Amino acid sequence: MKRIAVLTSGGDAPGMNAAVRAVVRCAAARGMEIAGIRNGFTGLIAGELQWLGPRDVGGIIERGGTFLGTTRCEELKTPAGQDAALAQLRAHDIDGLIVVGGNGSQMGAHALSERGVRVVGIASTIDNDLYGAEPSIGATTALDTALEAIDRLRVTASSHKRAFIVEVMGRNCGYLALMAGIAGGAEAIVLPEEPSDPEALAEEIRSSHARGKRHALIVVAEGARYNADACAHHFRAHVARLGFELRITRLGHIQRGGSPCAFDRLIATRLGAAASEHLHEGPQDGVLLGYMRGDIAVTPLATVVTAAKAFDAPLYALAHTLAE
Ligand code: F6P
Repeated sequence: MKRIAVLTSGGDAPGMNAAVRAVVRCAAARGMEIAGIRNGFTGLIAGELQWLGPRDVGGIIERGGTFLGTTRCEELKTPAGQDAALAQLRAHDIDGLIVVGGNGSQMGAHALSERGVRVVGIASTIDNDLYGAEPSIGATTALDTALEAIDRLRVTASSHKRAFIVEVMGRNCGYLALMAGIAGGAEAIVLPEEPSDPEALAEEIRSSHARGKRHALIVVAEGARYNADACAHHFRAHVARLGFELRITRLGHIQRGGSPCAFDRLIATRLGAAASEHLHEGPQDGVLLGYMRGDIAVTPLATVVTAAKAFDAPLYALAHTLAE
């Protein structure tokens, strides 16, 4: 294998640049040529390629976002879009593709792999909802960002005797909300994976107030059935009776930005290096590489796009106990 390409796709995640840097430098060290594809699969279809050498990826390991640019590409879901992507890879004599991204991106990677392209995915999403990675690149930095916000909100909530609903990202996955809620000492956590009864949540707030708490922090995952607005609708009158004013903070895209933490830089670097090795050495394409509890897990893309990640129910139960 002589020529490979790398692209970033889907929602950006802190650490994507570190992954691309490692891909480029490790592939170059093996004598391969590397094309950086701009703007994800959209750029692949349009032929937006830029040849990258080791010096072109200097000074990016500490930068959030992705210097290559990213998109969510609807066109790649169509046979015509896939044909166009294949044609670009052939036209540039590229024999292998590395896709840095989350669920939607790995579906695109899988589709191209099914059409004969040698593809290796790298698990990268702040949502941490990708089967085959624990955690994915970016999730730890996003968690730190959410946690810092929650710590700050608790201070002002306590000063003013307020209840705060803090909505965190995660799409349909409660990972960020659960971890930020536990680490931030939330009084209640609302997740997509567990049906929450607003009456039971209101009772949790009432009992924490009765135990002398001057504030209530409710961390809500954006994908929960009772999201921030629905929770506010149910709670407002209830918390008012306790003497709490209610405020809502949506952390939103703030969680996607910022410099990657050391852990994300390190796992991104290891995964980037491993991906270039996979394309260089062996038959193992059509796989996702994910950091998995101290090691690198290799999972077929066919499994990644069909399997669901297990929800940590005991940890959620522990969060209830800890909120005492
Ligand atoms: O997948 C990452 C993510 O940040 C989700 O948590 C969120 O639901 C979504 O992307 C937001 O997407 P967009 O940036 O397209 O608004």
